[in-house]
Amino acid sequence: MEIRANWSRQWGSLVGCSLGAVILLLFFFLLADRSEKTLVRRVLWNDGQDSHPDVKLYTDNPQQVVVDNGLLQVNFSRPDGHVLGIKYNGIDNLLEERNSREDRGYWDVVWNEPEGRGTGIFERVAATEFRIITEREDQVELSFGTTWDVSLRGRKVPLIIDKRYILQRGISGFYSYGIFERLEGWPAVEIPQIRAVYKLQKDKFHFMAVSEDKQRIMPMPEDRLKGQALAYPEAVLLTDPTDSELRGEVDDKYQYSLEDKDNKVHGWISADPPVGFWMITPSNEFRTAGPIKQDLTSHVGPITLAMFLSTHYGGKETEMKFEDGEAWKKVFGPVFVYLNSVDNGENPLELWANAKEQMLIEVESWPYDFTQSEDFLSADQRGTVSGQLLVREPYVNERLMWGQSAYVGLAAPGEKGSWQRESKGYQFWSEADEQGYFIIKNVRPGDYNLYAWVPGFIGDYKNDTQITITPGCEIKLDVLVYEPPRHGPTVWEIGIPDRTAGEFYVPDPYPTLMNRLYNNHLEKFRQYGLWERYADLYPDQDLIYTINNGDYHTDWFFAHVTRNVNNRTYEATTWQIVFGLDNVNDNGNYTLQLALASAQDAELQVRFNELGGANPPHFSTGPIGGDNAIARHGIHGLYWLYSIDVGNSLLQIGKNTIYLTQSRSISPFQGVMYDYLRLEGPPQDQY
Ligand SMILES: *[C@@H]1O[C@H](CO)[C@@H](O)[C@H](O)[C@H]1NC(C)=O
Ligand SMILES: *[C@@H]1O[C@H](CO)[C@@H](O)[C@H](O)[C@H]1NC(C)=O
Ligand SMILES: *[C@@H]1O[C@H](CO)[C@@H](O)[C@H](O)[C@H]1NC(C)=O
Repeated sequence: MEIRANWSRQWGSLVGCSLGAVILLLFFFLLADRSEKTLVRRVLWNDGQDSHPDVKLYTDNPQQVVVDNGLLQVNFSRPDGHVLGIKYNGIDNLLEERNSREDRGYWDVVWNEPEGRGTGIFERVAATEFRIITEREDQVELSFGTTWDVSLRGRKVPLIIDKRYILQRGISGFYSYGIFERLEGWPAVEIPQIRAVYKLQKDKFHFMAVSEDKQRIMPMPEDRLKGQALAYPEAVLLTDPTDSELRGEVDDKYQYSLEDKDNKVHGWISADPPVGFWMITPSNEFRTAGPIKQDLTSHVGPITLAMFLSTHYGGKETEMKFEDGEAWKKVFGPVFVYLNSVDNGENPLELWANAKEQMLIEVESWPYDFTQSEDFLSADQRGTVSGQLLVREPYVNERLMWGQSAYVGLAAPGEKGSWQRESKGYQFWSEADEQGYFIIKNVRPGDYNLYAWVPGFIGDYKNDTQITITPGCEIKLDVLVYEPPRHGPTVWEIGIPDRTAGEFYVPDPYPTLMNRLYNNHLEKFRQYGLWERYADLYPDQDLIYTINNGDYHTDWFFAHVTRNVNNRTYEATTWQIVFGLDNVNDNGNYTLQLALASAQDAELQVRFNELGGANPPHFSTGPIGGDNAIARHGIHGLYWLYSIDVGNSLLQIGKNTIYLTQSRSISPFQGVMYDYLRLEGPPQDQY
């Protein structure tokens, strides 16, 4: 399928408004300046309001609540607050009616008591109290709330949860958000996951789109049941799929993960009738662990997720942990379930283009001004921080450099880089421009540290001055200067310091274990089974990389993994970096800057010029990591930086070898990904 070339703006606007309402379309053509994209919303909200039916609330059935705005009708269970049905464009229910009532559209929480009975308890959030928050012609907001008391200890997560849903006049979809709270005195709990889930009609939704270059016809859920589970249950080889074209492909939901900063719209398209179901997430502020944390999107089911909190690509370090007695409150969302349609015979792929436009409209409208909970703050209750970030690295450039495209963010006060493990608070990130200028808008009041990192430079920036945001504040910071870790001039380097292993060698997948979407794709690393290819490429001897002779694009495997021996055991592997020195400078120590893009149950040991003799090794990371990025096809997980002191007695004139041993090896998924390595000479006096 291709996007129609003659896809006109008029038609774009037409799709953008809410479909089905012929009167509206006529109205739209009369009023609309068709060249302006944001118009859709303006027309719908202001001028166009009267042309739409009022939002209607039906509460006569004690077990259900129905809200109807003429475009869609949503049916909630009462008082639990699950979404039972979404009627739209002639389809009685976009959700899978063969699923039980609580298994169609719901919120869930996974939790543990640290010392308690339960681990990994999966709990659907079933509310006990239904309230009507707003019932106006132009908007209905509903609340489905649940609370906790000590009699529920060990059986229910110790949280007050208030699930909110909003339908508006003339808006083709619904908003949902959740207010989560703990009171003082409540017991300790660990929470690895919070999300909202929508399970769509499997007979209708077959085409999934999670980004511009990740769209495809997906297998059916039963194809996975009939298929062959691979090294873990999420990955299945499709041996007998309903659509025979998919035979021989691998399906794994983790192949569709995105970095949170890019995860703004994803969903499904039904071909007949042509209808789109989209999860739009206009802000990252309530997600956790920073902008490049990765998470699931949509996957076989057909399922669409809004992931609010997870340990995916971060591990246990990124879960929420509460001490005994600790109070807390946070708003997750709102996220927007957006529905669109075109006429039969039109190209359904246009629905993706339109969903992207709607996503931009939602992003522009953030923070929303129509939510009724006082815990979700409107724009005037928030503040702004702006400034410019420069980089001082005199070994690279005597002059200050711009912090070009730096990621700059506010997160809970902590250490350098602590934001990548921070999961209880809000985070506010922006990307600086070419000259390092940044502006962070719509920050909630509170105390923060300002953090940053700059692609092309190692390490983390943190400004030691705590920043306090107050409503309406506009804080202009002085010029900030980041001095990346650096002790001396570069002797050699491997890779690009960008927190991913993407520049290294990613092998072709096994031809029998492919996801065809990722053939000839920029994200080749999303293929299944690449870790096993290491032993194919290095059957007898581990990787040896020679400085000035090797090319890291082709000669440095993207992940330092274990070696599979006879399909039975796994063994540790030792990589070598070989380099020559004309002389050894004895005016001080050398430094090995070792930046990792991921670690999974690994220990990386570093030895200089003697492999057998150096025990303990000259340097060891110790046991680190649980981000599971190798098995989950991420090209990075959490970032680790080590600046290793290399006494000059460890080096020699002529040939030198650095041995990198990943010593933990009971599974195929253990290992590290390197981001970047650099050997620095001793400091020079002028710096
Ligand atoms: C931290 O921020 C303050 C306030 O803008 C500024 O004066 C100071 O120079 C900053 N520190 C660094 C290391 O950039
Ligand atoms: C390992 O298992 C795979 C798949 O079962 C098989 O194709 C391969 O021949 C086996 N290799 C060895 C060395 O036994
Ligand atoms: C050089 O490295 C050695 C070994 O790590 C360390 O003991 C020593 O303090 C370092 N010297 C300097 C000047 O940093």
